[in-house]
Amino acid sequence: MFKYNCLNKISKVGTQNFGENYTATDDINDADAILVRSATMHDMTFGKNVKAIARAGAGVNNIPLDRCAEEGIVVFNTPGANANGVKELVIAGMLLAARDVTGGINWVQTIKDEPEIAKMVEKGKSNFAGTEIQGKKLGVIGLGAIGVLVANAAVGLGMEVYGCDPYISVENAWKLSRSVKAVKTREEIFKKCDYITVHVPLLDDTKNMINADTIKTMKNGVIILNFARDLLVNDDDMAAALATGKVKKYVTDFPNAKSAKMAGTIAIPHLGASTEESEDNCAVMAVKELVEYLENGNIINSVNYPSVDAGVCRTAARICILHKNIPNMLTQFTGAFSAEGINIENMVNKSKGDSAYSVLDVANIKDDIVDKVSAIEGVRAVRVIKAQ
Ligand code: MLT
Repeated sequence: MFKYNCLNKISKVGTQNFGENYTATDDINDADAILVRSATMHDMTFGKNVKAIARAGAGVNNIPLDRCAEEGIVVFNTPGANANGVKELVIAGMLLAARDVTGGINWVQTIKDEPEIAKMVEKGKSNFAGTEIQGKKLGVIGLGAIGVLVANAAVGLGMEVYGCDPYISVENAWKLSRSVKAVKTREEIFKKCDYITVHVPLLDDTKNMINADTIKTMKNGVIILNFARDLLVNDDDMAAALATGKVKKYVTDFPNAKSAKMAGTIAIPHLGASTEESEDNCAVMAVKELVEYLENGNIINSVNYPSVDAGVCRTAARICILHKNIPNMLTQFTGAFSAEGINIENMVNKSKGDSAYSVLDVANIKDDIVDKVSAIEGVRAVRVIKAQ
């Protein structure tokens, strides 16, 4: 029996897939698995029982990834599951920046009781006129699941699209429209484009990516869209660029105390993935990842441990070891097994950064093997899964 805790509201379409071996718990420390959307977990402590955290979404900056890795907690995300929802809002954001639809809608509300409203509309509408996006240059920085969909949709709307991603996956490269012009550096996008949209994770080297220096290299009147994370943009530099008109509009799905007040900002309350479809898709994917890990020890879409698919255990038991990625670990594991007379039938070992994962399917099992392996320096967590 496994227990799961939902730190945020998670779609039932996903949680119903937990099946009869699972129960929900309100106690995060008692849970085997935690589902989270936007709750900040950096100050939380986790009980010994917690084995996995799944974020129903792509970004994982609300989770202490390194600490979780060290505590033997595998963190998952759901790449692509909400990509269509975000793509649609990015397109809406471009249209809202191109034409003053919100200004116009707000104005109509101020004259809604006027008997001559129809005439006033025709007279006043020129105050809200805009431009079209067809034929304009769009630069997409980051061609992950969302960036690719945005680029392709913009091609469909007649935009000239430039894409930049030195780490694009083969899968995403195949999905990208051939009309998207690939550029090697962000600088080329900064120089060329009328619209720039960022779709990269928030990391040390992407933080403040849009700042006074990079804005200086952009076209006058550029429109910048941020549906990724607020800290990718330096708010003070953006405020200054909006004040001079260097940046015409800043569309952000991550308003904060500064950006929400900046004139020229279109601030949306983090609605990119807030669609029924995206919430369902994320929940289904997150639950599937947790179940696969808890029941079979397989890791799909983890951000702090490597992917491992050892299938279903068909031997006496499967021993799953989360450990540091340092020399001599496998020799010590196999040594401990042979000292106990345990025969290894299959073995997988993979690493990701400082973390590694070894899965050993064994023909026989001894009760004290978990303690013996756990005592090896560099081992973070050991779990035995019995064959089904
Ligand atoms: C994401 O990182 O994919 C989004 O922030 C998901 C969400 O809106 O919760």
